[in-house]
Amino acid sequence: MARSKVENVGILAMEVYFPSQYVDQSELEKFDGASAGKYTIGFGQTKMAFCTDREDINSICLTVLHRFIEKNNINLHDIGRLEVGTETIIDKSKSVKTFLMTLFAKVGATDIEGIDTTNACYGGTAALFNAINWVESSSWDGRKAIVIAGDIAVYGKGPARPTGGAGAVAMLIGPDAPLVFDCGVRASYMCHAYDFYKPDLASEFPYVDGKLSIQCYLSALDNCYNLFCKKMRTIDPDFKGLLSMDGLLFHTPYCKLVQKSLARVSFNDFLNTPVNEREKQFPGLSQFNKCVREDTYFDRDVEKAFMTYSKDLFEEKTKPSLYLATNIGNMYTPSLYGGLVSYLVSKSPDQLIGKKFGLFSYGSGLASTMYSINICKDMTVGSKLEKLINSLHENMSWLDKRTCIKPQQFSDLMQVRTENYHTAPYVPSSPIEPLFDGTYYLVNIDDQRRRFYDRKV
Ligand code: ACO
Repeated sequence: MARSKVENVGILAMEVYFPSQYVDQSELEKFDGASAGKYTIGFGQTKMAFCTDREDINSICLTVLHRFIEKNNINLHDIGRLEVGTETIIDKSKSVKTFLMTLFAKVGATDIEGIDTTNACYGGTAALFNAINWVESSSWDGRKAIVIAGDIAVYGKGPARPTGGAGAVAMLIGPDAPLVFDCGVRASYMCHAYDFYKPDLASEFPYVDGKLSIQCYLSALDNCYNLFCKKMRTIDPDFKGLLSMDGLLFHTPYCKLVQKSLARVSFNDFLNTPVNEREKQFPGLSQFNKCVREDTYFDRDVEKAFMTYSKDLFEEKTKPSLYLATNIGNMYTPSLYGGLVSYLVSKSPDQLIGKKFGLFSYGSGLASTMYSINICKDMTVGSKLEKLINSLHENMSWLDKRTCIKPQQFSDLMQVRTENYHTAPYVPSSPIEPLFDGTYYLVNIDDQRRRFYDRKV
């Protein structure tokens, strides 16, 4: 295939999948004996999607990919790379990507690079960067890449359980895209932390140090944001951080943490402003002049003051990105991309043309990056943007077709998953009827622990 000049590399199309069943967070509060408002106000969560034992990481990625290919009429011979980002590990060797190859095998398409990438919620971003880098590299052969980010986020009984979720996002990557990545400004912060990790391979649940995970998330944000601004100013000396971006999107463990994160960005802007200029931009906040960034992760006064200061900025630049997160929960690797979808459907294509937004990706352990996307001003890609957004609106309509499951039944279904996580041979007990049409499901696991799937039609 002939190589052509690569310009405007980015996202050409997207698709989201979330399970057909959810539990209502206010009902879960009552069931768990938590105080009324803890999950809905304290976390900012409305509904939590979950999978029964009929779905696993392979099935949800097959579901989103099959729908994506069908809806966008993708010629599988035009795909040269397929990447999966996930932290839902059910096989220490065989990648999810290899299961997805069953769809390509039907048309004899096997010349496809890429495998799985893992580090907590960051794997989707790493997979996306791999795909972008490939299209921009000397290895590129002119075909497009597909990136899948998918996870089933489940916690054992306790305070973390209401911050679960499940879903998958598919993205088509190539040149002349409506959503274009800024070059040379990705800002990463990576280090070692035991904030959230999954060392018990016989269990689906992570080990979590909740408070440490919040501190790690916020410190990663501080580092990424400040470095990102520095890098942006090398290509745009007038870049003013948050104020120069139309949207700022975050990995969303739960919505309230994202609101606090936007406030944290404003606090960083405050600290980065010369003291004698602060009063003009941040009136009434001079009492925080002597604050040391690293000492303030759990400083209530700082948090409250900057949440108040950034309220309108949050409403304008970030809140539109939280729609899927509040209705699904933390999808882990797809979480940030669910934020992108939510942001895009909150506006008309005309309102989006020429806009810039920042994205903050965080995966415990820890790996994090802030980067930026521009909506291409070139009107020749306008129809691609419209098609992308129309397709996402169709995705969103599935939210209302879901079934609400009572907390007791949810808890029982979680128990079935927990008890059988490592069982083989195994035939799932949950019914197929509640699944959306087009959903892949686990038929059985045989005595060699091989998994077999079918698709509900
Ligand atoms: N009405 C309104 N708000 C309430 C109520 C109520 N009735 N009850 C409690 N709240 C508020 C609390 O004041 C608190 O607010 P704050 O965050 O402003 O302090 C909030 O609800 C949460 O209450 P906590 O008591 O702090 O919650 P808890 O300690 O039980 O658990 C945690 C929170 C640590 C996030 C836990 O759910 C967890 O471990 N989750 C998984 C880890 C996680 O998501 N980490 C984030 C980054 S890493 C990642 O992405 C996985």
